[in-house]
Parts: sequence; structure tokens; C-alpha cells
Amino acid sequence: MRVEKAGVVGAGTMGAAIAEVLAFNGIPVVLKDVDAALVERGLARVRGFVDELVAFHEGRAAKEIARIGELGVTLTEAQQEAVRTHLKPKVSRARAEEVVARVTGSTSYDDFGDVDLVVEAVFERTEVKRGVLEALDHVLPEHAVLGTNTSSLSVSRLARGLVHAPSTLAVHFFNPPTTLPLVEVAGGVDTREDVVTETLDFLQGLRNHRYPLVPIRVRESPAFVVNRILIPVLNEACFVRDEGLASARDIDLALKTGAGMPMGPFELGDMIGLDVVLEVAETLQRETGDPKFRPSVSLRRLVDAGHLGRKTGRGFYDYS
Ligand SMILES: NC(=O)c1ccc[n+]([C@@H]2O[C@H](COP(=O)([O-])OP(=O)(O)OC[C@H]3O[C@@H](n4cnc5c(N)ncnc54)[C@H](O)[C@@H]3O)[C@@H](O)[C@H]2O)c1
Repeated sequence: MRVEKAGVVGAGTMGAAIAEVLAFNGIPVVLKDVDAALVERGLARVRGFVDELVAFHEGRAAKEIARIGELGVTLTEAQQEAVRTHLKPKVSRARAEEVVARVTGSTSYDDFGDVDLVVEAVFERTEVKRGVLEALDHVLPEHAVLGTNTSSLSVSRLARGLVHAPSTLAVHFFNPPTTLPLVEVAGGVDTREDVVTETLDFLQGLRNHRYPLVPIRVRESPAFVVNRILIPVLNEACFVRDEGLASARDIDLALKTGAGMPMGPFELGDMIGLDVVLEVAETLQRETGDPKFRPSVSLRRLVDAGHLGRKTGRGFYDYS
């Protein structure tokens, strides 16, 4: 599968980062959202990811010299220069500018007529995603692959009746795609086998800021593999807190220091977005009919109040 131009619909948390990863791999990307302000916000996010990467690379040598200094070792100028040469930035400011320039914003589907691959990353609602996929179905070239970044919805239902149904599949990136390499790839009932294998091959050839991407094939099922396990963990953490067993901070601390998790469930929930966590929990409950997936009332209340985690400045924790 050759991807000479890609499209991303939804310039939010995931869409902007997916666009950046594609552009980082040399692919021109058109990034669409509903209005100009949201597109601009998405493009600013892309620039933010790139700036972070450049700052990381440019700061590595100075950090290393400072770290050695803290050990009580004073490096000579020649030794410092050797560290600087060894840790010279792998991503230059010029290359970063090229990445930024590869992503163009749009509010129109007219710019999607020549893309080879689209990833939609709009709200986790079937009706919203259906609207986007139907619009894309009209404008995409026949050969284009239509990827959905859905965390939990049925690909078969999202693709139902589309001309592009045989080339529609889930390409589920993880947050943040710039550093987490996993992509779950799942076809629906009508997805062609060659579309699944070629998408896996395509993703295998990409890398994010830290690692080569790791695409895995998953059978279509609610929430795929990671969220099928992870969302009940976050939800259960809410029940444990609500029953008064421990505070959110102590539950996070417990799972980090006792279970080897790099982030606690409340920290992770705030990073993912509590609306997304709730939507996935509801989908798991609805699709499986299994009461073990019922979302906790306290999670629902935070979402009702608009406290969605880091993106709104407050969730389980306050970031203001
Ligand atoms: N946040 C996560 O951790 C995470 C991880 C993996 C997958 N996902 C999935 O990615 C998708 C997007 O999630 P997010 O967290 O980026 O959401 P988000 O709310 O940050 O961004 C969604 C964006 O889609 C835009 N949008 C909505 N309707 C649109 C339309 N009709 N046309 C164009 N743009 C539209 C919104 O304006 C918004 O900018 C969801 O399906 C979610 O389940 C999220």
C-alpha cells in the first residue's frame, strides 16, 4: 500500500497526534475539523509535538553534562564537547519545520479527493462517526483505505452500506501516538483481507518519536484488547475509591509501586479523557450485556459536570 497523501478527520487529542506521526514519516497530511478555530488548535498541537521533540533532542547534551556534574565530576571543555558530539540532536529544527509544513488544515472534504489513507478521530459516537464516514465515502478515491480510530465501536456498523466498506477498518492508536507505538488493527465483517494485511505492513514501516510502530491484528470486538482490560481497571478504581477503601492519590500510588504500572488509573483516566473512558465503558456494557462493565456513578458525574481530565483542566485531579 502506497500512501502519498493521508487525511485525518478530527483535530483533537488523537487526530492531531496521528497527523503528526504520519507527517513525521514524510507523508503529507490534510487535517480536518468542523471549523477554522478547531483546525488551528489542531495545527498548534502538531507544532507543539514537534517543538517538544526538538527541545528534547537539543537539551540532551546539556542535561547529560549537568547530570555528570551532579555526580561531582567536572568535565573539561573537550569532554563536554565530546558529550555534545555524541548526543547531537537527531532531529534538527529544519527537519521539524518540514514535519509541521507537511500538515495542512482544512474545514472541507474537498481536500480528501486524492488521499490514499484517511484516519477519522472524531467523537466516540456512532452517529458522529457515521456522518464523517458517509461524507468521506463520497469524496475518497476508490482505492483509499478508510481507518477509524474508534476505541470501542463496531467497525462493521460504522462501515455498513459504504462503498468503501471493504476498505474500512479500525486503526486504533494509543494516547499519545507520538510516543506509544501500539496500533490495534481490526477489520469488520466486510473488510477485505488484503486491506488488513497491507495496512499492517504500512504501519509496520512507520515510527513515532520514540519507537517503530507496533501494529497488532485484533478480531473485531468491543474495545479490542487493551481497552477491554484497561477500562474495567479504571472503572474498578472508581468503585474502590467510592467505597472508601483509599483515596485516588493512594490508589494511584498503590498501583504504581505495587503493580508496576507506570501511571495510576486516575492519572491515566485524566490523560485519556473521562468522556472517552465513560463512552468505552458504556459500549462494553451495551455490546456484551455483561454487568461487570457498568460505569461507576462518580465517573458519570464528573463527565456530566464537564470535568473531563487534563483537557479541561480538571478530572479526578485538578490541573489548574
Ligand atoms: N483520547 C484517547 O486517549 C484516545 C485513545 C485512543 C483512541 N481514541 C479515540 O479517538 C477518537 C477521538 O478521540 P479524542 O480523544 O481525540 O477526542 P477529542 O474530543 O480530543 O477530539 C475530537 C475532535 O473531533 C472533532 N470533530 C467532531 N465531529 C467532527 C466532524 N463531524 N468533522 C470533523 N471533526 C469533528 C472535534 O471538534 C474534536 O476536535 C475517539 O474515537 C476516541 O475513542 C481516544
